[in-house]
This record gives sequence, C-alpha cells and structure tokens, in this order.
Amino acid sequence: MPRKIVSTGRGGTGKSTFVALSARYLRPPILLIDLDPDLSLADMLGADFHREGKRTVCEVLYDVIAKRKSNVSPATTTHDLMESLLWSDSLYEGRKFDLITLGTKLTEGCYCAPDDLLRKTISKLSRSYTNVMVDSPAGVEHLNRNIVSDIDDLFVLCDPSQKSLKHVARIRDIIKQVGMRCSHFYLVADYEFDDVTEERLRHSGEVYLGKVDYDTNVERYNLEGRSLLQLPEDSPACVSVQRILAKAGYR
Ligand SMILES: Nc1ncnc2c1ncn2[C@@H]1O[C@H](COP(=O)(O)OP(=O)(O)OP(=O)(O)O)[C@@H](O)[C@H]1O
Ligand SMILES: [Mg+2]
Repeated sequence: MPRKIVSTGRGGTGKSTFVALSARYLRPPILLIDLDPDLSLADMLGADFHREGKRTVCEVLYDVIAKRKSNVSPATTTHDLMESLLWSDSLYEGRKFDLITLGTKLTEGCYCAPDDLLRKTISKLSRSYTNVMVDSPAGVEHLNRNIVSDIDDLFVLCDPSQKSLKHVARIRDIIKQVGMRCSHFYLVADYEFDDVTEERLRHSGEVYLGKVDYDTNVERYNLEGRSLLQLPEDSPACVSVQRILAKAGYR
C-alpha cells in the first residue's frame, strides 16, 4: 500500500512549496495530487500540463457531462467513462513524479461529482505508487470533502498567528467528525517563525517537526516561474524539508 501524505494549512503558509520540495526526496514512484484549483503545484514543478495535452479532472468531467447529454457511448457507465478519461487525459507522467490536478469547476454546482470520482479512483490509481502526496487548497473545506479519507501523514503548515493554532484545532475536529483515519498529525512552521514564536508550536501539545527556513531562492524561483526541482541541494528550504521528512520517518 502507498504512503498517503497530505499537506494542509492556512493560505500562503507554503503548502505547495512543501509538496514540491518533498517530491525531490520521497521514494519513487510518486503520485502528486493537486486539489488547489489554481494549478500552482504543476507550475512550481515545471510540469506544463496543457502542453503535454493533459486536462484537469474538472475539464474531463465537463467532457463527460457533454457526452452524456449528447448520448455518446450510452453503453458505458458515467463512472467508467470518467475513469478511463482520467487515466488517459489527466495523469501527467513525469520523470520524477506523476501528477493529477482537480482544476476549476466549469459547471454550476459543487465538487461532489469530481470528489466522488477522485475518492474512488485515488485508491485504485495509488496502488502503483510508493508515495501519494496531496497538495491542498487553503482552509479546511478539502477535509470536509473527504477526498483522501485515509491519511498516513498529515503535515499542517503553520504561520505565526493565534489563528493558526485555532486552525490546527479545527482540523483535529473535522478529522474526528468525518471519521477520517489519520495515523500521524504533524505541525510544520513556515519561514516566518522566529525562535520565540516557534516555542508556541513546541508547546502546542501536537508533534512539532520543525521549520521550513526562509529561502530567497524559493521566492526568486517562484517569481521567475522556475521549477523548484532545480533548487540547489543545499538551499535552506531543501535542507529543512529533508530534515522534517526524516523526523517523520522518511529515509
Ligand atoms: N521557505 C520559503 N522561503 C521564502 N519564501 C517562501 C518559502 N516558502 C514559501 N515561500 C513563498 O511564500 C509564498 C506562498 O508559498 P506557497 O504557494 O507554497 O504557499 P501555499 O500555502 O501553497 O499558498 P496557497 O494557500 O495560496 O495555496 C510563495 O510566494 C513562496 O515563494
Ligand atoms: Mg498552494
């Protein structure tokens, strides 16, 4: 079974950066799942999704809805049609990792259909990978959507604010409410913490794994649209992420 890893937290705390850098150190084969509608993870990893002819899960869903309306392939169930299109059209296969992205909904309504599809197909798709890592949008809504209900390691990226600790408590509540399995719940400090504010996380009662150090290269690469896979190995953020993953038992 693959290790299922989720990066979550408030807006701008470095969730996507953490996932992109983790992709450098996790044991392959790796599947990355971007639940954030803005496709930022693909950009951070230099994966040109559209040039490769790939589409988001929502784009595929839109296609399936259109096919259903015009009664194309009536013998195939909607789920089978979605699943086969997901494999062929949405799975970006890279050298270091594979990637699927949820994308932005193109039709009115909620995410229920793609969520249901993702939930069912993720466990199927995941079987071929050693590590499956999810990048989440800001907030807790994605946990309510319960797309990955079976988490081995949850990394909660925190910023130095009271709101951040309240956010941690809300995540705990939601996990309980939706009956999600979460074997390990880890706190990670973002680059804004200093020694004094870090103490708060050390005494939060949760397992605190350390801080992702400030890294001017990360800022510059993101600004220039360069892949974080090209960051020098000794860059502060790379060293931090490696150290944090090692503390969580990754070798
Ligand atoms: N270690 C770091 N050092 C310097 N800047 C960083 C670091 N980590 C992230 N950043 C910067 O912080 C910003 C937010 O990072 P990122 O996109 O990873 O956060 P996020 O939590 O995924 O955001 P969102 O909530 O919008 O998805 C980016 O501009 C990024 O360059
Ligand atoms: Mg992000």
